[in-house]
Amino acid sequence: MRATGASVARAAALLRAGGVVAFPTETVYGLGALAFDPAAAARIFEIKGRPSFDPLIVHVLDDLMLAQVVAGVSPLARRLMDRFWPGALTLVLPKDPHLPALVTAGLATVAVRRPSHPVARALLEAAGAPIAAPSANPFGGLSPTRAEHVAAALGDRVDLILDAGPSELGLESTIVALEPEPALLRAGSIAVEEIEAEIGPLERRPDKAQPRAPGGLPVHYAPRTPLRVVDPHSVASEERSAAGVLLLQGDCEGYAAVRRLSESGDLREAAAGFFEALHALDALGLGRIDAQPMPEHGLGLAMMDRLARAAARR
Ligand code: TXA
Ligand code: MG
Repeated sequence: MRATGASVARAAALLRAGGVVAFPTETVYGLGALAFDPAAAARIFEIKGRPSFDPLIVHVLDDLMLAQVVAGVSPLARRLMDRFWPGALTLVLPKDPHLPALVTAGLATVAVRRPSHPVARALLEAAGAPIAAPSANPFGGLSPTRAEHVAAALGDRVDLILDAGPSELGLESTIVALEPEPALLRAGSIAVEEIEAEIGPLERRPDKAQPRAPGGLPVHYAPRTPLRVVDPHSVASEERSAAGVLLLQGDCEGYAAVRRLSESGDLREAAAGFFEALHALDALGLGRIDAQPMPEHGLGLAMMDRLARAAARR
């Protein structure tokens, strides 16, 4: 349903009645329930088919809502909030004892973010309470950057889908934990270099991040079509005709379908269309998707992370 004042009010009423609603954010679409309603949060896990050990991100409108879900905000956390909120940074902070354990999968911490998308903010305001929301896709699948992606994968199982067109950033938020020492748990829409410019080096050992962020599971973000990361120009031409190719830029002949993320190789532009391109290639039902490796800096790091996990499904 198109996001308007009336449909946002209706979505908020559904949330307050224990419903589960999909809504747009600047990163990807989220599948939301009130964070303080454990029964509704349980429905999120059920709808996604997500193992219940995987904690949810809690979305807040302002400091008042933040104070309801966290036990405290360190000066370092405050500094990152001042710099990056509202926006695509998720911080892992000590949780308030009243926040349901289901939301944080029993952890002593909560992942929290203040979104910038006007519809997400309007929904938080109308609901008047923090909203727990993972990305609105079946567990392990491609993240949705359009309402149509949500409708196709989960449509009949959610109470309402607010449609505000394509997500502007197109990749999930960057997740940072601050204790015991600042660490990158998931590369995302804010380049790690930008965060390090603010607070210094982040620990980034993916093996260490894994138990802490199941978005860090080796197999994740995967299309149904087998995907491999390979320089498409090195693929024999007879192997190309049954496959689709995802290119950062440039061209490659002989593939059944080609998706180019940016004419100029711009990583921000590429990230914005990244999941959309994978959804489109996946929908063609080809035998394989060949994905060109991304440069491992800036937003290329987050895209390469997603591709590596998608490839691990095979
Ligand atoms: O951009 C985004 O972050 C989107 C939009 C909807 O906000 N949300 C999103 O949520 O990507 P989700 O659930 O798909 O990914 C959240 C990740 C998961 O990998 C989860 O394990 C991790 O955050 N996470 C949540 N709480 C955590 C915690 N307390 N400690 C460590 N990791 C946590
Ligand atoms: Mg997700």
